[in-house]
Amino acid sequence: MTLIIAIDGPAASGKGTLAKRIAAHFGLAWLDTGLLYRAVARDVLANGGDLEDVAAAEAAARSVLAVSLSDPSLRGPKAGDAASIVAKFPEVRAALLDYQRAFAAQDDGAVLDGRDIGTIVCPDAHVKIFVTASDEARARRRYLEHQARGEDVAYEDLLVDIRQRDARDRDRAAAPMVAAHDALRLDTTELDPDQAFDAVIELIRSKIGS
Ligand code: DC
Repeated sequence: MTLIIAIDGPAASGKGTLAKRIAAHFGLAWLDTGLLYRAVARDVLANGGDLEDVAAAEAAARSVLAVSLSDPSLRGPKAGDAASIVAKFPEVRAALLDYQRAFAAQDDGAVLDGRDIGTIVCPDAHVKIFVTASDEARARRRYLEHQARGEDVAYEDLLVDIRQRDARDRDRAAAPMVAAHDALRLDTTELDPDQAFDAVIELIRSKIGS
């Protein structure tokens, strides 16, 4: 049986953690598609380029290497903000599409998470989940992550950052962040990671049967 699961949602909604656990649960491969956009932004900057330069971003997208996705510098909100800038270019999105679709086309299927998986990358996914959480809950999660690393940041600044990133991802013309019409919604505002995982498995089972 083939099972393709598309997980979309905004930054810090918990979609990445969920996607990873869902993939392990069903024994499927997992692709965090945000890493592709993060790697493109990293490579543009490493080449001395400007994130707003579409030609530089497209060239980086065409040569981005899957092996480079495990780079720890891709983690964190700064790399995510840079990714969100290059992700608005249709040329960049087009250059990354085949890789994502080929990944989803594995025999057993796969779990992919991002912003446009249920709408553009895998419109025929067997299960589509759109994960949300309130702006405040997401900023608070970020805040706690910074605190755990001993970094002193203001919660209010994180809230502003989260809202700016959402607006950029939601309001762009090319493959904006939006729930597919047939996506199941999961709001994780009041849920801890285990509760969110139980809830998402319940949703998946309701869609595919057990
Ligand atoms: O999921 P993430 O935070 O790692 O994504 C970083 C940025 O990359 C996100 O703000 C927008 C972009 N992105 C995208 O446009 N489409 C995707 N499928 C995944 C990420």
